[in-house]
Amino acid sequence: MQNFILHTPTKILFGEGQIAQLRNEIPAGARVLITYGGGSIKKNGVLDQVYTALHDFDVQEFSGIEPNPAYETLMKAVEQVHKEKITFLLAVGGGSVLDGTKFIAAAANYAKEPWHIIETVGSEITSAVPMGAVLTLPATGSESNSGGVITRRSTGDKQHFFSPHVFPEFAVLDPVVTYSLPARQIANGVVDAFVHTVEQYLTYPVDAKVQDRFAEGLLLTLIEEGPRALKEPENYSVRANVMWSATMALNGLIGAGVPQDWATHMLGHELTAMHGMDHAQTLAVVLPALLNEKRSQKHAKLLQYAERVWGLRTGSDDQRIDAAIAATRHFFEQMGVPTRLADYDLDGSTIPALLAKLEEHGMTTLGEHQDIRLADSQRIYEAAR
Ligand code: NZQ
Ligand code: ZN
Repeated sequence: MQNFILHTPTKILFGEGQIAQLRNEIPAGARVLITYGGGSIKKNGVLDQVYTALHDFDVQEFSGIEPNPAYETLMKAVEQVHKEKITFLLAVGGGSVLDGTKFIAAAANYAKEPWHIIETVGSEITSAVPMGAVLTLPATGSESNSGGVITRRSTGDKQHFFSPHVFPEFAVLDPVVTYSLPARQIANGVVDAFVHTVEQYLTYPVDAKVQDRFAEGLLLTLIEEGPRALKEPENYSVRANVMWSATMALNGLIGAGVPQDWATHMLGHELTAMHGMDHAQTLAVVLPALLNEKRSQKHAKLLQYAERVWGLRTGSDDQRIDAAIAATRHFFEQMGVPTRLADYDLDGSTIPALLAKLEEHGMTTLGEHQDIRLADSQRIYEAAR
């Protein structure tokens, strides 16, 4: 196992009815800005629950944070934070609202033009407005990690940043609020959490037994409960297991002391920025092609994955690896997330432009061995057609 420092400061309030606890988590006297998206929290009653919990707080709203949150939108919220002297941000929504709120939190205290945060991957953030989260879509893990992904619409850039200053102070995870998710978002969340786990697991062995078995447990849970969440949308236990899996998949635990890949995410972000595909759709398209392209570098872990996650024990090494990749693709398809670019009406003609964006963003040595260069990314995009 490699050396690591693990910092997980987010307090989790998990379970039905936990939104009521909000009032105990936000400092008395705070000037609170509730940030949210397109209005799902109004339809499903979550916003009402938040107002009930905060009835004697000084509360304002900023709405309209879109999926793949836009820098242009978030800067309007930064203005509101300054003008209204906001002292606490409460993000209520999915990964986009949470990521967007992390950006607002950092940008509000930033001395330079805030896109600089993205250009420096968050490394020059020295403080942020404190924030908490009420999560409504289990997927990204943003509720208890220090990352965010922001899109600048005017230039077609979708890029991430990290900072220990933007960890949510707390996150409320009530599985009941996920009952209202449309099937497409249930599926997106399960696929995203699955791929987060894979990107920290399917690399090369470093004898990290706890992380490996923890990752395998998350994958098995998502394979078991993902399809059930689609069939039984109001099954609390299923929703609870999916929700906790997604948080655990990207809060630092399974990634501590192990090599990490993340190339699927980087290739996927360009597809979203250029074509507007959902984040998880891009992952479902890229991952199977990437696993096949990197099958020799990932040989040992692919065999472990084949056996322990998919129960594949017979046949040659190559046959088991083929079967594991096919099972992965089948799982995404079973969740209703197609795995070919053609399924999204893309014919591959933009691959040169996607590669140019990867290069512009410095994504030229990706993967756990930094050996996914532009030529490799090209083969992966081509194989994903
Ligand atoms: O905007 P509203 O009306 O709230 O509707 C949202 C949105 O349209 C809807 N939704 C959310 N909760 C709902 C609901 N609808 C009904 N009932 C509910 N309970 O779902 C739609 C999608 O929401 P979004 O937040 O965009 O989805 P997700 O959570 O998948 O977030 C995706 C974003 O997170 C980034 C992605 O790149 C993408 O921008 N990621 C962030 C990461 C991180 N911070 O660590 C890691 C991930 O790899 C990912 O890159
Ligand atoms: Zn993701």
